[in-house]
Amino acid sequence: MAQKQKVVLAYSGGLDTSAAIRWIAEKYQMDVIALTIDVGNERNLAQVRQKALKIGAVKAVVVDAKELFVSLFVFPALQANAIYQGQYPLATALSRPLIAKLLVDLAKEEGATAVAHGCTGKGNDQVRFDVGVAALAPELKILAPAREWGMSREQTIAYARERGIPIPVTVEKPFSTDENLWGRSIECGVLEDPWNEPPEEAFAWTKSAGDAPEVPAYVEIAFEKGIPVSLDGRELNGVTMLRSLNDLGGEHGVGRIDHVEDRLVGIKSREVYEAPAATILLKAHQALEGLTLSKLQLRFKERVASEYAELIYNGLWFTSLHQDLAAYVQSSQRHVSGVVRVKLLKGNCIVVGRQSPRSLYSYGLATYDKGDVFDHKAAEGFINIWGLPVRVQAKVQLLLQPEGPLGIAAPLEEKRKKAAGRKSRSSK
Ligand code: ARG
Repeated sequence: MAQKQKVVLAYSGGLDTSAAIRWIAEKYQMDVIALTIDVGNERNLAQVRQKALKIGAVKAVVVDAKELFVSLFVFPALQANAIYQGQYPLATALSRPLIAKLLVDLAKEEGATAVAHGCTGKGNDQVRFDVGVAALAPELKILAPAREWGMSREQTIAYARERGIPIPVTVEKPFSTDENLWGRSIECGVLEDPWNEPPEEAFAWTKSAGDAPEVPAYVEIAFEKGIPVSLDGRELNGVTMLRSLNDLGGEHGVGRIDHVEDRLVGIKSREVYEAPAATILLKAHQALEGLTLSKLQLRFKERVASEYAELIYNGLWFTSLHQDLAAYVQSSQRHVSGVVRVKLLKGNCIVVGRQSPRSLYSYGLATYDKGDVFDHKAAEGFINIWGLPVRVQAKVQLLLQPEGPLGIAAPLEEKRKKAAGRKSRSSK
């Protein structure tokens, strides 16, 4: 008998990927190898592995990718301040290229001809996986059972029941979630009406602001070249740093995000996130950049941040544009070292102090007290030159406009003209 072809499936242990093990085996007559990747989503991984085997995977592999995830994906995104549409710190999006890479690696090791994932045809994740895999290993086929099988959620549950596939209790939960060290993504159910306030049971990592302690927590975060290295003077590796800040921030209700976002596939969707560590670190990092980067650097870097976020969100991790942007971001961080003090109180994360040996803040220049070294006299000459083009334009254009210097028939202008008219009439 000819050997069956092999496929490596990204296996989460949830309903869709569990059904997929059987569906692929039945539909494509392939041997399914389940790959479960640990990016900090707290689960019993030994149990997930056993489950894959029980359902019919010929092999089940668990990879601890937490450190890789933090050092190669999360921290570079933090250094860039990558936040999609000003709200979403990109937890799910950042994990996808890593999972694509590990799928490809295992497929090569096992001599598989295909990889598979459990994404549906409506989301961003299918794009991120497919584009990532195609970039890294164009020879591999990509199977997306949940995109192909055309089963509703109820039908998938029935399909699993018929085959004795254990249905995870999470199926009863009214939300679809994805989590890793950088945050937890929550969608579906009552959240699909953007008018509905997210119910408390949607959240798992954060207290509500109302239930958070009345007394604030303070934490001092030290950065070296834009990477957080210690909390309150305690040196921590990246994974422990994120866990600690997720716990502390969650306790104080920090990091809840409610976002109507624009998916790559053209759909507006309501997504709720919990990202305490991301919220705290992004704020702290930006505060330190405010101290150590020039105004011009900050302005340019903001544009880079928005491009970087789009690129991550849109599944373009494995591109030259990414390498180029990443090189700029790395270079920009060479003086971003120092300590930021943050206060966490009832859902708020407030930067209350920052210091750096490379600080561009000069007390002598800033102070209004004695010790002021700023040359006040020099301001006059500066203003004279700065305002020069403004004066020229006003004289030859703005002041001659019939509608007045504001360029619109502004109420103020009307009033002034009327008043002037009255005056000249009465003086006659
Ligand atoms: N909307 C987010 C993104 O595209 C998160 C999607 C995560 N999936 C989930 N089941 N909540 O990155």
